Amino acid sequence: MKRIHADIKKSEDIIQKLNTFISKQNGKLIQYLKQDIEDEEKAIRDYKNQISYCRSLGDHKTADLLEHIAKEEEIHFKEISSRLQKI
Ligand SMILES: [Fe+2]
Repeated sequence: MKRIHADIKKSEDIIQKLNTFISKQNGKLIQYLKQDIEDEEKAIRDYKNQISYCRSLGDHKTADLLEHIAKEEEIHFKEISSRLQKI
């Protein structure tokens, strides 16, 4: 009986260590995803400014190209945001 209690205690300790590990990993992942979201937001902002600048110069071909890239960044932003919400 004593042995069973010792085994249960060992199992509980292992589970607690695993939970602590998982919690730390999730914390790091959340931190990385939040940084990625900030980076995507900055990229989108920068592309929009560049698009406006190109349009003001009448360079619509470059503006169109930048709009295409900005849309890709918006997709990345949505994907990362969605991933973050699932944690
Ligand atoms: Fe991106």
